[in-house]
Amino acid sequence: VERVFSGVQPTGNLHLGNYLGAIVNFVKLQQTHNCIYCVVDMHAITQGVDVWGGPAELARNTREVTAAFIASGIDPKKHIVFNQSQVSGHAELAWIFNCVARMGWLNRMTQFKDKAGKDREAASVGLYDYPVLMAADILVYRATHVPVGEDQKQHLELSRDIAQKFNNDFGDSIRGHGFNDGVFFPLPEPVITGPATRVMSLRDGTKKMSKSDASDNSRINLTDDADTIAAKIRKAKTDPEPLPSEEKGLEPRPEADNLVGIYAALSGRSKADVLGEFGGGQFSSFKNALVELCVEKLAPIASEMKRLVADPGHVDSILIDGAERAEAIAQETMNAAKDIVGFIRKK
Ligand code: AQP
Repeated sequence: VERVFSGVQPTGNLHLGNYLGAIVNFVKLQQTHNCIYCVVDMHAITQGVDVWGGPAELARNTREVTAAFIASGIDPKKHIVFNQSQVSGHAELAWIFNCVARMGWLNRMTQFKDKAGKDREAASVGLYDYPVLMAADILVYRATHVPVGEDQKQHLELSRDIAQKFNNDFGDSIRGHGFNDGVFFPLPEPVITGPATRVMSLRDGTKKMSKSDASDNSRINLTDDADTIAAKIRKAKTDPEPLPSEEKGLEPRPEADNLVGIYAALSGRSKADVLGEFGGGQFSSFKNALVELCVEKLAPIASEMKRLVADPGHVDSILIDGAERAEAIAQETMNAAKDIVGFIRKK
């Protein structure tokens, strides 16, 4: 059975990159797959408390990501929406995977290097271990497909390596427990599709749009109002040339490429098509059209998010209901995984 799993961290400032790179695909995959969408609050605390903002902020951001999922069109009744910390299988499987994954594999992870910065000794063990917990998130549901943005590709490869090594290390035991092909964990496939798998910063076309960028002008937040969106797009970095008429003209111009890419993604058109309309024109008029499109697409999401978070009890009940259903699947995997490893348990 094909099953989709993906997560978003409740670290605040949910932005257009998260939306176009991940959430839009989450919505689409509902039509063809059973989907599990998780607010990964355990991942959110891997950096300093000054970064994730403390308990009240974490709870607020967890509800905000949940609201963004629902406002974007995820159906929490047909699919599963919950927060990670409610299902203990994530942490339990992460421990088993800690003993499967190798230090050398983790040492290659570029996101850790970026986020830890120069002072690696001061990074939390959790930040280093992040990709192992991510493998557990996916595999505790034995998910087969994982929609993510381009930046998560390396982590997904690590998840596949962990699944493969677990299957190899415990091959005989896996077969002994009735999995005759020796495969207990599927190798999860990244789904990195859509027109905007890597949305870039509005201030620097070579850096990805990111929640943690110090400049709020670098990103469009899903909660920004129309005036803020307009101001950010008008201030977005560009170059003095008019827009090119052909796509290859965007190659050496990362900022132009990014804005055209955002327009294309939000309108469901190709970049070539967008350039067919705006090529040869000045940025100012293109930016006006982009503002209009962004506001048209994002304003309804923002207002629905606002409505949802105004009733935290309701959001929490959605997360609790989702967690119960997630728990049932995770429990089944954990029982089998514990038997395969040789852990004695109550039956
Ligand atoms: N700029 C982006 N373009 C396309 N996709 C993106 N994603 C993130 N940034 C972009 C995708 O959004 C999903 C959720 O991301 P996350 O919350 O798990 O963590 P992240 O990748 O760390 O997000 P940020 O915004 O970049 O935060 P910081 O600043 O902490 O690094 C993922 O599928 C991700 O690929």
